[in-house]
Amino acid sequence: MTFHTASQTIDGALHIDARTLTDALDFIDYQDDILHIDGVSSDTLVQTYGTPLYVYSKNALLANYTAYVESFSALNDVQICYAVKANSNLAVLATLAKAGAGFDIVSVGELSRVLKAGGDAGRVVYSGVGKTASDIKVALEAGIGCFNVEALSELDTINAVAQTLGKTAPIALRINPDVDAKTHPYISTGMKDNKFGIAHDVAVSAYEYAKGLANIEIVGIDCHIGSQLTEVKPFVDALDKVIELIDELDARGIRLKHIDLGGGLGVRYIDENPASVHEFAEALLPKLLALQAKYGLGLHLEPGRNIAANAGVLLTKVDVLKPTEHKNFAIMDASMSELIRPALYESVMAIIPTKPNHTADVATWDIVGTVCESSDFLGKDRALALQVGDVLAITGAGAYGFTMASNYNTRPRPCEVMADGGLHRVVRVRETLEDLWRGESI
Ligand code: LLP
Repeated sequence: MTFHTASQTIDGALHIDARTLTDALDFIDYQDDILHIDGVSSDTLVQTYGTPLYVYSKNALLANYTAYVESFSALNDVQICYAVKANSNLAVLATLAKAGAGFDIVSVGELSRVLKAGGDAGRVVYSGVGKTASDIKVALEAGIGCFNVEALSELDTINAVAQTLGKTAPIALRINPDVDAKTHPYISTGMKDNKFGIAHDVAVSAYEYAKGLANIEIVGIDCHIGSQLTEVKPFVDALDKVIELIDELDARGIRLKHIDLGGGLGVRYIDENPASVHEFAEALLPKLLALQAKYGLGLHLEPGRNIAANAGVLLTKVDVLKPTEHKNFAIMDASMSELIRPALYESVMAIIPTKPNHTADVATWDIVGTVCESSDFLGKDRALALQVGDVLAITGAGAYGFTMASNYNTRPRPCEVMADGGLHRVVRVRETLEDLWRGESI
């Protein structure tokens, strides 16, 4: 079924049908004309905490996680390792840890967050290029579940550190399957040109090399081809490439325990029609069941965006309206410092009113921040009825929102709140100016 929330007005502006958009979102809806997040009125949230404000729905996070568990339940051994980089707030991690999630990390900082939030190190996979000996030591001491290794030199470092600690390090090699993920080039990772993974052609010899290292235990094979993929075909293509390798490895006596297919399943920001988790599972399961039957292989997945994006919104207030002869600018209290996705990837995210404005006329606005950069926009050419003081919601902001926020222009990062069935609580206080110069000296 195709989905239409967005249309163009006569002058080419983007009009988003906020009702249709929110009808398709779980736990984000209008009640009595006011936007609610997990049963909490945006009015209450704005009055209590101010703006800009990130709000996450606990129940949406859980529903999105559960969709993975249920869709892949035909397999005996599945680990959903939530990609921490999407949203690393401790409350988000704790919610998912309690539900049984594992985690995909790319730094020791992320590992520390997972442990602090009550996550199990044994269910953590450590991805990322360029792990240092000290990172590896911390991860091994914590009892990490698996290193997703991206280079032969990394294998040597892991082996050496493991030897010093008298441990054996569980590893998977991250294969670059050279498939086109058909997504934005900045978030595509599985092609020859990308810095990620070990090339498919040399993968078998890399495994042979790993086999010869005394303190390495080969446990899996891994790939992650990119992010915000809306079709399942690239995942199926990547799986086929990995299966070729698994067969070849088996023939050489290298037996694996799991296959990790990374993250990357896309979400609807405006009116994309990404495959659902269920469709994603249906496309992969026949092959995965065959791998389970043949080799006893379990499955790891590393979804980030798909769990967190539509569980969160960024609430932001109109501070200044600046109509000009060519363009109308609505200057918000959020900017690229709080949400960089539009500036960095030209991503188009939905910007909707938190309540109707019956006074102003609809006009075409560029929704911008106050940061001194022309790339500082949150949305361009949006058809909205706006007045100073109105609060807008940017949906899809639960992933790669706060985690990519910065203090550029000395802007304290926003407060984060978790909403849960009509209740709400702060899960990160708004930064103060003192926070921003802590550690500096004159
Ligand atoms: N696993 C690995 C090894 C990854 O590199 C990533 C994301 C994921 C899992 C999770 O991917 P997801 O399921 O969230 O698509 N900042 C960009 C996205 C960068 C993704 C980087 N890697 C954005 O805002 O679109």
